[in-house]
This record gives sequence, C-alpha cells and structure tokens, in this order.
Amino acid sequence: MENPRPAARVAGRKEDVWSIVNSAAASSPKQPIVNMGQGFFGYAPPQFIVDAAIDALKTVECNQYSPTRGRPRLKKALAGAYSEWLGKPINPDTEVTVTTGANEGILSAFMAFIEPGDEVIVFEPFFDQYLSNIEMPGGKVVYVPLHPPKNGATQTTSSSEWTLDIKELEAAITPKTKMIVLNTPHNPIGKIFSKEELTSIGDLCVKSNIIILSDEVYDTLYYTPFTRIATLSPEYARLTLTVGSAGKSFYVTGWRVGWLIGPQHLIDYVAAAHTRICYTTVSPLQEAIAVGFEQAPHNGFWPESRKSLKSKMDRLNSVWSELDLPFTDPEGGYFVLVNMAKVKIPEGYDFPPHVASRPRDFKLCWFLIQEIGVAAIPPSEFCTDENAGLVQDYLRFAVCKEDSVLESAKERLRGLKKFIE
Ligand SMILES: Cc1ncc(COP(=O)(O)O)c(C=O)c1O
Repeated sequence: MENPRPAARVAGRKEDVWSIVNSAAASSPKQPIVNMGQGFFGYAPPQFIVDAAIDALKTVECNQYSPTRGRPRLKKALAGAYSEWLGKPINPDTEVTVTTGANEGILSAFMAFIEPGDEVIVFEPFFDQYLSNIEMPGGKVVYVPLHPPKNGATQTTSSSEWTLDIKELEAAITPKTKMIVLNTPHNPIGKIFSKEELTSIGDLCVKSNIIILSDEVYDTLYYTPFTRIATLSPEYARLTLTVGSAGKSFYVTGWRVGWLIGPQHLIDYVAAAHTRICYTTVSPLQEAIAVGFEQAPHNGFWPESRKSLKSKMDRLNSVWSELDLPFTDPEGGYFVLVNMAKVKIPEGYDFPPHVASRPRDFKLCWFLIQEIGVAAIPPSEFCTDENAGLVQDYLRFAVCKEDSVLESAKERLRGLKKFIE
C-alpha cells in the first residue's frame, strides 16, 4: 500500500541547507569538520542560570504546567527589562507572552493575525522559518531585498552598508499587507537598522495600519548603538510586537524559551494562538530565565556577553585580512558574512547534483567542507531564487564557538590561500 500523502505545506520542499551541510560534512575527508555553520553555542551557558534551572527542577510546582502566557516570575522579570529597553512601563499581565522559543512566538503572531490571502512583507535575506510560519495560516510572503554594498566583493564594509530601498518597500505594500517582519540585529547580515531606516519603515506601517513584527532576538548582542522601533513613537508602538529569545540572550538555544512584548490589543491574540499551538512553555526553564533577567543587570552579564561575542567576532575576522577576503563587519549578532568572490573553484570540480544545481554559495560551502574541513552556511538559502544572486558569493560563519575552535577554523581557512586569486 502507498504511504499516506503528506500535506503540501511540508511535502516537496527542496533539500534544506542543514541536511546539505550535514551530508557534506559526513562525506568530507577532513574529519572532524570545524562547524561554523549553525548558530548554536559551542560552550556552556552562564552558571547562574544553570544553577537556577537545577533549583527549579527540584521545586514541585516548577515541574507542572505554567500559565499559558508564562510564569508570573518570568513575565515580571521581562516586563522589568523591557520597561527600561522600550522606555515605557510594560504591564507583565497584558503586554507580555512567553513562547516556546522565539520561533513559536513568531508563528503565534502570524496565526493570530493572518487570514488566507493576507500579505506579509519580509526583507531578504530572511530567517528561513518566517516563510512556512506565514504560509501555515494561508499568508502570502512578499519579498523586499536588502542590497549588498556595491564594493562588497573588493572591500570590507560595515553591515550598515546593506541597504533597504524605501521606495521598493513602499511599492510592495498593497491593501492586503497585514504585517511586516523586521529583523534587527539581522541574521545573517549583522545589520542594525538605523533610526532613519526605522522611521521610514514605521511611517509606512502607520499610514497603512500594518503590524510590525520586530524580531530582535539578537538584541543583547550589539556592537554599535541599537534602536528598537517601538521606542521611536507611540504610533509605532501601537503596531509593534517585539520578539526576544532566551536562546540567544543566555546561550541556551535548546531551552526553547522566547517571548513577545507589545500592546494588549496585539498580545491578547498572540497569547490565544500560542495557547492553541502548544498550550504553554517548558516550566523549569522559564523559571531559570526569570532568574537570568533578575540577575543580569547586577552581575554584569549583558556587557560581558557583548564583549565576549565581539571578541570572538574579531578573533575570527582577523583571518580574512590575512587572506585578503572582504567581509561584512557586523553591528550585532554572532554571524559574519564573508565575500568569497576571489576564491576560484578549480575547473571541472566534482559537485553532487543537489549542490551543482544550486547557486555558487552552495558550491563554495561544499568546496570549503571538502577541501579545508570548515562548514559555513550558504546565505542564498535565505533568499528567493530571483535574488539568490545578491548573496551567491558570500558564506555565513557563526562565531559563538570556543576560542580554540575559532583558532582551528582560522588555521584551516589559511588553506584557502592557494585557491585565492
Ligand atoms: C532572526 C531569528 N529569529 C528567530 C530565531 C528563532 O529563535 P529561537 O531559537 O528562540 O526560536 C532565530 C534563530 O536562529 C533567528 O536567527
């Protein structure tokens, strides 16, 4: 008998980037691979939240269902932090909802507001989960590109030089546009949107009453001043859902704790969708993140984590000047895009068909894994086919790894010299 047919929303997808990178890594003669691909941390989270998680596991009520909007202690701690970060008092009971990672929070936001046929604007390159999250409630993704710096193939530039053409954004808005997804600091570019850019975006959203889903999961990791769109005007705040992630803030991507902050007329419905999707979020880890937010302002964790990630970033990036490869110096987050236009893949190099059919960055990714044993992510995975060309000379490296791993990566990357013209 034939196997049951899967739903169209999950069937027939292209092989995803993670499987391609993993299968390349498994087949590489250079073992073990230095994995700079996926953005998981290669070291332990801070002891104060690990201790808090252990304590929570020993407490009877922390092992049971939490209220659907989150544990009171975490909502209070988040409201405290965001009252300061958003510059206005946040009500823990009506303006916060805790979710199972930022990703489920983002899905809940789309489930809460998107009806079939509604349009959601996404900048590309984009975080890939947005697309299926928008499509699940029947939404249509409308893409607006972020343009790479013109001299990106020859010179190291700032991530601020990746630009949004506001006219292109304006042209993408239709009467069906319900939401826009903003991601700052941006994955994979590392761009922090400037006040001017946020104001142009915010004004367009106010004009057409568009909800702003501001994905700020890298918000504690900024290396230049960081502005949140919701702080720029009460009209923007009325339309903004701000997204955060304990995974990124406390190095615990596997804990799956995230949250959305916003006005009650938005949060009420996000919370309702979240309740239907997964009811509630893992209790002991919520409690530990509450302790994290209570202690971080006093124990120096926020500046320390910024300093640590920035130093890892600079440690890896010193190798690109040795190799004379330009990169996009990120203003935030823990990814760096490196322009590999100068890397010459030998004529007739043998790629498996699922790589040969993809843009040049997939080939570069395969080539680096096979020849020097370093895994990175091809960013055209985060673009439509039409705009894959914008990023096809780049690879994305994650620096949230032990310094020793960064040093091994650098040592191996020096092996690229012979392929650089
Ligand atoms: C831009 C962006 N948004 C959201 C997420 C999801 O965060 P979480 O792991 O908390 O679901 C990620 C994770 O990589 C991300 O890069």
